Amino acid sequence: MGRPPQDAILTRERLAGLPRRRLHGGRNVLKATVEVVEVGGRPVAVKDFSARSWPVRCLLGPWQLDREARAYRLLEGVRGAPRFLGRVDRQAIAVEYVPGSDLAAVRPGDLPESFFDRLDLLLDSLHAAGVAHGDLHRRDVLLGPGGEPYLVDFSTSIAVGPDPDPLLGFLFRQMCGADRRSAAKLRRRLLPGSRREVPPPPGLYRIGRRLRRFVDLVRAISRRR
Ligand SMILES: Nc1ncnc2c1ncn2[C@@H]1O[C@H](COP(=O)(O)OP(=O)(O)OP(=O)(O)O)[C@@H](O)[C@H]1O
Ligand SMILES: [Mg+2]
Repeated sequence: MGRPPQDAILTRERLAGLPRRRLHGGRNVLKATVEVVEVGGRPVAVKDFSARSWPVRCLLGPWQLDREARAYRLLEGVRGAPRFLGRVDRQAIAVEYVPGSDLAAVRPGDLPESFFDRLDLLLDSLHAAGVAHGDLHRRDVLLGPGGEPYLVDFSTSIAVGPDPDPLLGFLFRQMCGADRRSAAKLRRRLLPGSRREVPPPPGLYRIGRRLRRFVDLVRAISRRR
């Protein structure tokens, strides 16, 4: 494992001796575990790939964490983005722990309309900082203190900063559109009676969907033969 960068508040050695509780076991072999660790009396969320197989631990995981770290750094000071507390090593990051639950635990009607309005505003701030989440689903939106929305899991994000080149800028705008569509779908699903329209998927996402459908069709035909 690589040397911890300067900004780490935690080293792997220190982490090993601290009290912790598992938040998320990793849904499959490609996913990290997420634990809440007590560091100097405050809870810190640690997302860690170190227990995974070599290709995930050494390639996929660090690549995803690089994206997350870059996004969190650009989001420093944005309300609703947990503070980035540093890279433990290539396999793990430490982020401010947000007490509360994610929206997977929320039932339709549990949240007021203002929550979804604040989520839209949070996306505006995110995009203004040059970060698009890219795969916003209900486990990535947290219901934090005071009923405020928080966003986590920037592993699929694009973080272009204030002045992206044209190609990146195009991709960024597509992903911003996908974020807004995801937020509108969450509103539709969890706020009964909401009449807010869900925007159509951005062009690139539509092409991706068509490609997936085409591959499914080819697979179905080849199975029949
Ligand atoms: N900073 C945090 N504070 C509180 N809870 C968190 C934090 N970071 C992550 N979590 C919780 O851990 C879960 C998994 O984290 P994350 O989404 O980053 O991992 P993941 O591997 O992408 O998981 P998934 O594929 O299920 O989305 C989140 O859905 C959330 O409930
Ligand atoms: Mg996630």
